[in-house]
Amino acid sequence: MTVHLLAISGSARRDSYNRKLLAAMVEGARAAGASVEVLDWSVHPLPIMDEDLEAAGIPEAAPRLKAAFRAADGYLIATPENNGGYPALLKNALDWASRGLGDPPGAGSVYKNKTAVVAGATPGRWGAVRSIRQLREVLGYLGCIVLPDTVSVNDAGKAFDAEGGLIDAKTRVLAQGLGAALARATQALKQ
Ligand SMILES: Cc1cc2nc3c(=O)[nH]c(=O)nc-3n(C[C@H](O)[C@H](O)[C@H](O)COP(=O)(O)O)c2cc1C
Repeated sequence: MTVHLLAISGSARRDSYNRKLLAAMVEGARAAGASVEVLDWSVHPLPIMDEDLEAAGIPEAAPRLKAAFRAADGYLIATPENNGGYPALLKNALDWASRGLGDPPGAGSVYKNKTAVVAGATPGRWGAVRSIRQLREVLGYLGCIVLPDTVSVNDAGKAFDAEGGLIDAKTRVLAQGLGAALARATQALKQ
């Protein structure tokens, strides 16, 4: 059975290390038979979540983002760490996609019983371990089945080659394996 995954980088930065780490995860998930959409932040220019704003008129990017979440059976996420937590970009997206946004009654959550894996990369020593932990907790709160596996890339400035590939073969295999693990777990849950 083909499962569909949404791949989300916690950074929209052009040369993002997390986008590169995510690419290895996506490679693994596709090799394991999943279809994967990589979220393009440029088509989801979301304002900061605000209930007054929502009441005045839902920004058009929000339902579009939620539709991408809705279509996914699971989430591949690679996140940086900002001041000891995961970035506002990610939290804002998670918050918008948790809202009704004009969905029909009973449409349900875009998180509940979906699978997720979280990895992270930073140029620092600790490889986003704090933000990975926090994001895993929030995804669990939202109802996602978060796999225990993770990959943390420290010293990210030296971890990728000119083409964006992970230089260290062991880390590359781990990142690809994380994507494959999500694909397989999602396939098993859908049967
Ligand atoms: C506001 C801000 C706070 C940051 N705080 C941390 C931090 O707490 N820990 C850390 O390891 N790196 C921190 N960094 C560095 C980012 O992890 C680094 O810029 C990373 O490369 C961003 O991810 P990206 O390469 O995917 O864009 C911070 C960066 C910014 C802009």
